[in-house]
Amino acid sequence: MTFPLLQMRGVAKQFTLHNQHGIELNVLDKVDLEVRPGECVVLDGPSGMGKSTLLKLIYANYRATAGSIQFRQHDDQPALDITRATPRELVALRRHSISYVSQFLRVIPRICALDIVAEPLAEDAGNDMAGLKAARDQASAWLTRLRIPQRLWHLPPATFSGGEQQRINIARNMIKPRPLLLLDEPTASLDPANTETVIELIREAIAQGSAAIGIFHDAQVGASIATRHVLVGTFRSNA
Ligand SMILES: Nc1ncnc2c1ncn2[C@@H]1O[C@H](COP(=O)(O)OP(=O)(O)O)[C@@H](O)[C@H]1O
Ligand SMILES: [Mg+2]
Repeated sequence: MTFPLLQMRGVAKQFTLHNQHGIELNVLDKVDLEVRPGECVVLDGPSGMGKSTLLKLIYANYRATAGSIQFRQHDDQPALDITRATPRELVALRRHSISYVSQFLRVIPRICALDIVAEPLAEDAGNDMAGLKAARDQASAWLTRLRIPQRLWHLPPATFSGGEQQRINIARNMIKPRPLLLLDEPTASLDPANTETVIELIREAIAQGSAAIGIFHDAQVGASIATRHVLVGTFRSNA
């Protein structure tokens, strides 16, 4: 692949605090970042420097104030500028191209853990019964691997512990392989055994050709999977 999968150029993010007399907060400025398949870029830097904001700009949860974020899945396809993408393009991007493991699971009321995890594969299966069964089988395998007790599989995760919810979140957002994986402190509430499993899962995704950009609460975890480190504080021009 000649072109990078992701190319950020001169990206800035400014928040305007409307309930505080319109104070403007310059969180990121002049961010340049390129990521290629097979890379695991770990974002380092103190809390509050804009690491999570950077991931949210790529996933288009936030809109950049300046700059471009080009995403190109294949050399022979035109790049998509995520900062200018239409809602329709963003839906497709999130469905097929970018996975985002947020810090917390957004629970869906009344949907059981197994179906929450199976959903991204089930969505692709449509009405194909064999495909739907395969989606649920895969979800069972992920829940097993992440040590979610079977008695919880058919319950909605609203009442699960923080660590259980985070593992559901990881399974749901990693079950479908996508070219770019965004990880915001995926192991922060996990015990050592599950942390090790999540590291293995990330390594497997990268070995299969995905790229990852991750934030890790534990520097040792980050160092163990990084192919490259990027210090987010250095992006600030007004620090
Ligand atoms: N939606 C928002 N509105 C206003 N300020 C925000 C918003 N999101 C993040 N910020 C601010 O941006 C800064 C960076 O936050 P964040 O990206 O979460 O940092 P990090 O992940 O590096 O700890 C913080 O000062 C935070 O308060
Ligand atoms: Mg953060």
